[in-house]
Amino acid sequence: MTGQKILSGCTVLVTGATGGLGSAVAKGCAREGATVVLLSRTIPKLERVYDEIVAAGGPQPAIYPLDLAGASEKDYYDLATTLERELGALHGLVHCAAELGHLVPLSNLDGELWQRLLHVNLSAPFLMTRELLPLLIKSAPATVVFVGDSAVGAGKAYWGAYGVAKIALHGYTRILADEMESFGLKVHLFTPGPMRTPIRRMAYPSENPDTLTPPETPADSLLDLMSPSSTTAR
Ligand SMILES: NC(=O)c1ccc[n+]([C@@H]2O[C@H](COP(=O)([O-])OP(=O)(O)OC[C@H]3O[C@@H](n4cnc5c(N)ncnc54)[C@H](OP(=O)(O)O)[C@@H]3O)[C@@H](O)[C@H]2O)c1
Repeated sequence: MTGQKILSGCTVLVTGATGGLGSAVAKGCAREGATVVLLSRTIPKLERVYDEIVAAGGPQPAIYPLDLAGASEKDYYDLATTLERELGALHGLVHCAAELGHLVPLSNLDGELWQRLLHVNLSAPFLMTRELLPLLIKSAPATVVFVGDSAVGAGKAYWGAYGVAKIALHGYTRILADEMESFGLKVHLFTPGPMRTPIRRMAYPSENPDTLTPPETPADSLLDLMSPSSTTAR
């Protein structure tokens, strides 16, 4: 690594920080000098990523366990209040958490699963972002990244509520990006290709994982978007 670290002095919140892409992004942000807040639902996995960042010599991260399936508006308010009090700023928010459910035709999709997947994959990132916008704007230039999925396309069979949420996330990102441009806040939808992670394994159980890109490769491209000097893109 040569030159100045692009995220020195920055704070970044990564959701899904225990997953394939999220852990690679979190470790990459720390490698670039950021204090990273690691958010997902499983504490032992969060502690593992925490330990890896510390062992690599990164700034001491923070752990914020939260189950997005059950989180309320008050939980996001509390998250924003805690980050403001403990860190004072937020320069990056990366939404990597996602739940797939299982691939089924819409005609067979259970109503409770539909609601859960729309909540975790669409409503939760909306509510979290809305509560964190004041701190992000106060910390500008700042960046918010949502993650799309090209497998879903503009609408492909069997991707169910996960697919509907990803399509809606695309529209939401465009609207938010337009609204936030004048506040110094960059909003991106980052769409990685197929990656060797648990969610991919659930969607394609018979696929040879060795044929897939490790998540560190797209994570590096996502990190480029986090640089305070990167230009707005949608
Ligand atoms: N893998 C691919 O091929 C691929 C392709 C295109 C797009 N994507 C997108 O890339 C992003 C990252 O996916 P990935 O491949 O890294 O998936 P992954 O390895 O399965 O990670 C999913 C992450 O989401 C967290 N999560 C799931 N449900 C949660 C909940 N209810 N509350 C809090 N956290 C929750 C998990 O936390 P726990 O560990 O605590 O369960 C985990 O950290 C997703 O948006 C996905 O849609 C993936």
